[in-house]
Amino acid sequence: MSGLPVLAGQVVVRRFTPADVADFAAYRSDPEVARYQGWDTPVPDAERLVSEFAAAEEGEPGWFQYAVEAGGELVGDVGVCLADNRMQAEVGFTIARAHQRRGYATEAVRCVLDRVFAAGVRRVSAECDARNTASAHLLERLGFSPEGLRRRHTWLKGEWTDDLLFGLLAEDWTSGASGPAIFACRPNLLVADVVASLGFYADELGFDVGWRWSDRQARFLHDGEPHEPGTALVARDRVQLMLTQVPGPHTTRLHLDVHTAAQVDRLFREWRERGVDIAEPPVVRPWGMYEMRLHDPDGNVLRVSSPPAS
Ligand SMILES: CC(C)(COP(=O)(O)OP(=O)(O)OC[C@H]1O[C@@H](n2cnc3c(N)ncnc32)[C@H](O)[C@@H]1OP(=O)(O)O)[C@@H](O)C(=O)NCCC(=O)NCCS
Repeated sequence: MSGLPVLAGQVVVRRFTPADVADFAAYRSDPEVARYQGWDTPVPDAERLVSEFAAAEEGEPGWFQYAVEAGGELVGDVGVCLADNRMQAEVGFTIARAHQRRGYATEAVRCVLDRVFAAGVRRVSAECDARNTASAHLLERLGFSPEGLRRRHTWLKGEWTDDLLFGLLAEDWTSGASGPAIFACRPNLLVADVVASLGFYADELGFDVGWRWSDRQARFLHDGEPHEPGTALVARDRVQLMLTQVPGPHTTRLHLDVHTAAQVDRLFREWRERGVDIAEPPVVRPWGMYEMRLHDPDGNVLRVSSPPAS
């Protein structure tokens, strides 16, 4: 998956920047745009919101807000909330009134869904006020299935309102279905001791623990529950690894691709400061790549490399 910005038809989908505050505050403060949304008008604290959007990481659990630009102007936003398990997400969207009914939301949300499903998400949920026909039509046009009506579920602007529920599964995503069949790879790394490996990947290398599956209890474990043998998913940036406990020895080689030599150096410093034993610090290898090597507790080799600095 390539980085942002992305050109999607008439719109550009990109990260927010501090320069977006005025446009963002203007359309989010429009009572028509906010009519079926949970926020007040004028939108309070647009500056803080935009700086939070600008600092957030795409692909990390929690909300990530994409800015939607057309003709060089910020025209709206699309938000994705990725669940801690990284397999489910929720989507929301807003387009400024002056820019509605031009297909911008359809293009921007489709582009965001492409990214979300390409990252391994299995299901995206959405909901809207039952009177919000523009939103419901958009979701149906994109292939979401209606999944029900929650009556008098939300207290919104002084009244109890009904919510329509929608869901879209990765296998039903038409944009994805017409593209390449294999869209991601999640290596299943065999390790002799999942607990020791989680210590290495999560505590030392800074991967997040997506979930853990307990063999004995045959269920997912929540944060705080003791680690047990089984399988765990760890993720950092755009890479996900499954760790599965199988008696060793294991000597897989993993190649972690990094964009620039400066980022390899940054990882090297970060990991060295955390006390990680780096078997071979970064050097330019005979084949031209700038690479450092680490060994996990099993002896699996991580080769972390980028093109050399120019
Ligand atoms: C819901 C929302 C994001 C849709 O944005 P949008 O950019 O107008 O969406 P699109 O332009 O892609 O599609 C809207 C309609 O315009 C039509 N359209 C698309 N391109 C068009 C064009 N060039 N000319 C005329 N109509 C066009 C679409 O067919 C669609 O029609 P339909 O609603 O009858 O099916 C927008 O109405 C909005 O921001 N609402 C306020 C915030 C909100 O409620 N968000 C959702 C919360 S759940």
